[in-house]
Amino acid sequence: MSTSPDSALRTPPEVKPAEGKLGILIPGMGAVTTTFIAGVEAIKKGLAKPIGSVTQLATIRLGKRTDNNTPKIKDFVPLASLEDLEFGGWDIFEENCYDAGVQAGVLERPLLDQVKEPLQKIKPMPAVFDSEYVKRINGPNLKPKGSKMDYAEMLMDDIRQFREKSGASRLAMIWCGSTEVFHRPAAVHQSIKDFECGLQKSDPEISPSQIYAYAALKSGVPYANGAPHLAVDAPALVEMARELNVAICGKDFKTGQTFMKTLIAPGLKSRMLGVSGWFSTNILGNRDGEVLDDPGSFKSKEESKLSALEVILQPDLYPELYEHIYHKVRINYYPPRGDAKEGWDNIDIFGWLGYPMQIKIDFLCRDSILAAPLVLDLVLFMDLAQRAGMRGIQEWLSFYFKAPMTAQGLYPEHDIFIQLMKLKNTLRWMKGEQLITHLGLEYYD
Ligand SMILES: NC(=O)c1ccc[n+]([C@@H]2O[C@H](COP(=O)([O-])OP(=O)(O)OC[C@H]3O[C@@H](n4cnc5c(N)ncnc54)[C@H](O)[C@@H]3O)[C@@H](O)[C@H]2O)c1
Repeated sequence: MSTSPDSALRTPPEVKPAEGKLGILIPGMGAVTTTFIAGVEAIKKGLAKPIGSVTQLATIRLGKRTDNNTPKIKDFVPLASLEDLEFGGWDIFEENCYDAGVQAGVLERPLLDQVKEPLQKIKPMPAVFDSEYVKRINGPNLKPKGSKMDYAEMLMDDIRQFREKSGASRLAMIWCGSTEVFHRPAAVHQSIKDFECGLQKSDPEISPSQIYAYAALKSGVPYANGAPHLAVDAPALVEMARELNVAICGKDFKTGQTFMKTLIAPGLKSRMLGVSGWFSTNILGNRDGEVLDDPGSFKSKEESKLSALEVILQPDLYPELYEHIYHKVRINYYPPRGDAKEGWDNIDIFGWLGYPMQIKIDFLCRDSILAAPLVLDLVLFMDLAQRAGMRGIQEWLSFYFKAPMTAQGLYPEHDIFIQLMKLKNTLRWMKGEQLITHLGLEYYD
């Protein structure tokens, strides 16, 4: 048997208990963030249920099917409880979380009013912002001018102060800010040294979200990226996460249309049905939609949305089924819809002897309602990973992302059912339980 260099990692880690409070820091306090925080407060008060959250509702099977041992995930691994969460964040707008929630227009006023008190107390800290990276919006709540390294230090100060004021024993950061314009990794992203030098020189290739990521990592705070742009996935920051023993993951929450894609595409492929075309279009009218109306930000989203199908269908392995697929994704900003997005998919497929068929999907979804439980799960699992000493990219959290981060040279796993199996097996591994392979021959011995 070969012993790989990471064989030590296979020994279950010692997971520290979730003692004390968990502080959640969020750059961008718009629709997703306010829906998430208001939701947690409503759930704590017993006004609503955490629908859509794997950490709160899902179970995990342990041992054989005949063992009847399926505890809830939250009873199996030590996760922070909702009562122990403290929230803070940054935004370019000054509105507190209650006012921002009212403005986002996702949750109904009677529900928001019942959690007004805790929400009003959450006021965004001044943001690090660059209108070269996010166009179409501008706000007054900004940090005083400085170099990019000055900004990183100001953010680290914010983190320190939040830690003290909230009394949190641990922190996690998750980017729920606007989508920045598309950038590829540049020279400044290649090593920690290059990156720090770039911060000093305010290199234009370093984005605000990367300054937040740097500040988080330097402060030992795990960082997740909910948006599709290049951020913590730049090589310098990946290296830094490993060096400083901090967990990172991303990117782009898998909600709405791509969620549907990753349900349907693996099914079609499992039956060896062909796909000749997949046209996806959306209308949405929230601030996210407005930012995505800018071609640079749309390009970040388009790249992340397009990649999933290609990787799932593997046209190189199945050229007769997927070689000529025409895949197109459109997002249209349409203000009357607000957060209530509508996503249409037309899928042209072919079956036995090449006979064509079609599938039409019309998903009338709510973007932030789908994203909020993902934010909750991600911060709880990132905190767990950190307590388990798991550093660098957390591929087991691919389940939540449209464009999952992986080790260099490794293609990402997009099939949601493989991702879920990976997630649950990681939890079993953490607790020293047997992994479930679904072989099942033992039942027939
Ligand atoms: N809702 C979903 O289903 C979903 C799915 C995938 C990805 N996302 C991504 O999540 C992010 C949040 O979505 P949303 O609907 O809440 O958008 P939103 O526009 O309502 O909120 C984003 C907030 O970020 C703020 N912001 C922008 N740049 C900032 C900076 N540098 N520092 C601090 N704050 C900054 C904006 O002022 C805004 O309030 C977007 O990038 C979106 O693309 C959302």
